[in-house]
Amino acid sequence: MENQREQRCSRLVFVLYPFQGHINPMLQLATIMYSKGFSITIVHPQFNSPDPSKHPQFTFTPISDDLSQGKVSTSDLFGTISALNRNCEEPLKEYIEKMLKAEDTHDRIACIIYDGLMFFAQSVADRLKLPGMSVRTSAAASILAYAVFRRHDEQGYISFLDLMSKDQETELQPLRLKDLVMLRSQNVPELIGELRANLTDSVKKSSAIIVNTMDFLEQNVVKQIQGLFPAFVFTIGPFHKLAPNISSSLLKEDTNCISWLDRQAPNSVIYVSFGSIASMDEKEFLETYWGLANSDQPFLWVVRPGLVRGSKSVELLPKSFEERVGDKGCIVEWAPQLEVLAHGAVGGFWSHCGWNSTLESICEGVPMLCRPFFGDQCLNAIYVCDVWKVGLELENELEKGNIEKAVRTLMVNTEGNEMRKRAMHLKEKVNLSLRQGGSCYNSLNELAEQMLSLRSN
Ligand code: UDX
Repeated sequence: MENQREQRCSRLVFVLYPFQGHINPMLQLATIMYSKGFSITIVHPQFNSPDPSKHPQFTFTPISDDLSQGKVSTSDLFGTISALNRNCEEPLKEYIEKMLKAEDTHDRIACIIYDGLMFFAQSVADRLKLPGMSVRTSAAASILAYAVFRRHDEQGYISFLDLMSKDQETELQPLRLKDLVMLRSQNVPELIGELRANLTDSVKKSSAIIVNTMDFLEQNVVKQIQGLFPAFVFTIGPFHKLAPNISSSLLKEDTNCISWLDRQAPNSVIYVSFGSIASMDEKEFLETYWGLANSDQPFLWVVRPGLVRGSKSVELLPKSFEERVGDKGCIVEWAPQLEVLAHGAVGGFWSHCGWNSTLESICEGVPMLCRPFFGDQCLNAIYVCDVWKVGLELENELEKGNIEKAVRTLMVNTEGNEMRKRAMHLKEKVNLSLRQGGSCYNSLNELAEQMLSLRSN
């Protein structure tokens, strides 16, 4: 990059939220900003620490999170978010104060860039009079949903039914409020209310809002967010396309599946993965297996530790598995997902619709079978199925007959083929936005400029 040498004197401090679906995009963003000439410090809780040896160009600093490893439960994410925000504020402040004391003119902190769920970082930034930038690793629509729900909380609309009766649907278009019920209905209400308030209020104070999305995917929503918050919204996704070849997996990727894919026909394989957190019971797991086996399509299935609640997943499979499926099925604990989705043999992705998986699928023109589990996944599935029309939703109880039918619709029917064509069209649009002069390219340059100007004196 031009001016790289001069820009190297500006340091960005990234604050990570310690789960795979957030670590990946934040380290990708850090890699992108490093390529723009910034020095990078990564501050992260001790829990789920990333591996510094995979990113030797960054300085990694763990901070005390006071979470005992055994107590962190993926079924209580709101509790974890709340604890992290309570416990990490002082350690982060102390660490940055030390950095400021040691600062020289060639290595000054330009700003703190934090995962939106680590909103305490904005308070630290405010207290130390440093600029803070909030990163959304999920869709822009989730910022809007949180902001709208936050306003309703303030106005006292406490129940979802109340909200429905106020007929506020238009505010969230193209997303329908009634479809977002799962975003509102998780866990302990007070914690969710607190989260919505803190998240939205920190965004109001931030110097910029960075979103891992593309203008053409969420144009109206981005405009609406811009109207709600004073800071500029930078849409510079998809991060992973701007920072290729970095691996930040917490689990070891099993690359044997790539040689298995090499032996399959083009577009014939359905890739099945439910991300890093979602879980199912034994019955759902076995229905999934039978649905895949009966569909008669080759499948590559990620069965990570913890996917089946309380069980050692793969051991549940019937003894006849080898005989029944043979080389038609490949099961791994963790896949190199970007490589898998880019492989010519993969023709469909059965996904839980985490935002990273959704973006990664779109970027490779792969249509999706959607089975959201919670939170923003429900919102992303609406985008995939109803707005972009590049997937179909697997609704109701997980049952082998429905699964078999849905897999075949996606993989071999005309309906699936039409979705594949639309997905390829989206892929082309992604590539255009990344090129010189494209929306992502321009937005990224503007963001780098803003970062440099924030503490230029
Ligand atoms: C979580 C939330 O569940 C999700 O809804 C939110 O948008 C982000 O945080 P997660 O459930 O893990 O994330 O899903 P996702 O967003 O799809 O992220 C998973 C990441 O792990 C992706 O980048 C994917 O490429 C990677 N992955 C997944 C692998 O590298 N290998 C695998 O086998 C599976």
